[in-house]
Amino acid sequence: MTILVTGGLGYIGSHTVVELLNNGFDVVIVDDLSNSEKFILNNIEEVAGKKPVFYPFDLKRRELLKQLLDAHKIDGCIHFAAYKAVGESQEKPVDYYENNLFSLINLLQEFKERNISNFIFSSSCTVYGQADKQPIDEDTPLKLPESSYGKTKQMGEEIIKDFATAHHKKVTLLRYFNPIGAHPSAKLGELPIGIPNNLVPYVTQTAAGIREKLNVWGNDYPTEDGTAIRDYIYVVDLAKAHVAALKKLLKEEADTVIDVYNLGTGKGSSVLEVVHAFEAANSVEVPYQICERRPGDITIAYANADKAENELGWKADTSLEEALRTTWQWQKYLEQRQ
Ligand code: NAD
Ligand code: WQD
Repeated sequence: MTILVTGGLGYIGSHTVVELLNNGFDVVIVDDLSNSEKFILNNIEEVAGKKPVFYPFDLKRRELLKQLLDAHKIDGCIHFAAYKAVGESQEKPVDYYENNLFSLINLLQEFKERNISNFIFSSSCTVYGQADKQPIDEDTPLKLPESSYGKTKQMGEEIIKDFATAHHKKVTLLRYFNPIGAHPSAKLGELPIGIPNNLVPYVTQTAAGIREKLNVWGNDYPTEDGTAIRDYIYVVDLAKAHVAALKKLLKEEADTVIDVYNLGTGKGSSVLEVVHAFEAANSVEVPYQICERRPGDITIAYANADKAENELGWKADTSLEEALRTTWQWQKYLEQRQ
C-alpha cells in the first residue's frame, strides 16, 4: 500500500514517514525543501531502515504532480505541506493563501480525477481560537482565526469537507495542539530557521546560548502562575496518530467519510512549567524575563482527545519532560553537524 506524504521532509512529516515505514507502508514524499533539508531523507532511511521515494517539487506545479501520480499507484495521502509561521502569514498573507490553498486544491483536483481517496489533512487547534470552555472537544464552535495562516487551515478544512461530500471520498482532519520534541534517535526534529516564534525551539536555543534570554510573553493571564497554558504533544505520539487515522480510513466501508480528531495530551502546561520542565529534564538553565503579552495570544487551550482515544485507539503518553529531553538531544545533534 503506497501513501503519498506531502511535506514529508518537514518536522511532523518526517516523523510520520518513519512510523508509516515501520508499519509496512510504502511512502512517496513530495517536498519542495522550502522549510526542510535533503539530509532528513537520509536520516529517515537510517532510522527506519528503508528509503522512501522522494520528489523535490512545489505542489503548486500541478504538471509535476500529474507526472508523479502517473508513475505511482497511490492508496492514500497525508498532506503536511504548508507554510506555517503565524507572524510571517500576517506580513505575506497572499503567499500563505497561494501556497497552502493552491497546493491543497491541486491535490484534490488530481485525486478527484484519478479516483484516489483516503486523504488526511494537517489542521490545527488554531481553528478554535480562544474557546469558551476547556478542554476543547471536536464539537467546540470554530472561530475565525486571527492569522492568515490559521485562516488557510479553516478554509482548507471546508474545501476538504466539500470534496469528500461531492466526490464520495474518505477524509480525516487532524487538529494538532502544540507539537514538540524530536525523534529519540536524535536524527529527526524541527529545523530552526531564523529566530523561533514557538516556545520550545526558543527555550532550547536559549539553553544552548544562541539566544540570551527567553521572553515570557505575559504573566498576568488568569492562570495559576500567570503565564498562558497550552497542550504540548510529543511529535512521535502525533506521528503515530496519523498511522492510526490512516488505518481507520482504509478500513471504512462507506465511500464517504469525514472524520475530525483533536490530537493533544489532554493536559495543559503553562509557559513557566515548560521552562522548568526543560531545566529539570536536561539539567540546564534557561534564563528568562517577563515581558508584555504577545498580541493575538490566547490564555488557554488544551484538548479533549477522548474521541481519538475511543475511535483510533491512540493516546499521547509521552511525558513533557521526556519530550523536552529529545529536543535537547536534537539540538546537540544539530550543533555537531555544523
Ligand atoms: P514544516 O515546515 O516542518 O513542514 C512542512 C513541509 O512542507 C516542509 O518540509 C516544506 O518544505 C514543505 N512544503 C511547504 N510548502 C510546500 C509546497 N508548496 N510544495 C511542497 N512542499 C512544501 O512544518 P510542520 O511543523 O511539520 O507542519 C506540518 C503541517 O502541520 C503543516 O500543514 C502545519 O500547518 C501543520 N501544523 C503544524 C503545527 C506546528 O506547530 N508545527 C501545529 C498545527 C498544525
Ligand atoms: C506557546 C506559548 C506564548 C514563545 C502556535 C500557532 C498555532 C499552532 C501552534 C500551527 C504562548 C509563549 C512563546 C516565546 C513565550 N501552530 N511564548 N515566549 O502560540 O500556542 O500556537 O503554534 O498550527 O497555530 O499559533 O504556540 O509556541 O508560539 O506559544 O512566552 O518566545 O508560549 O506566548 O503562550 P501558540 P507558541
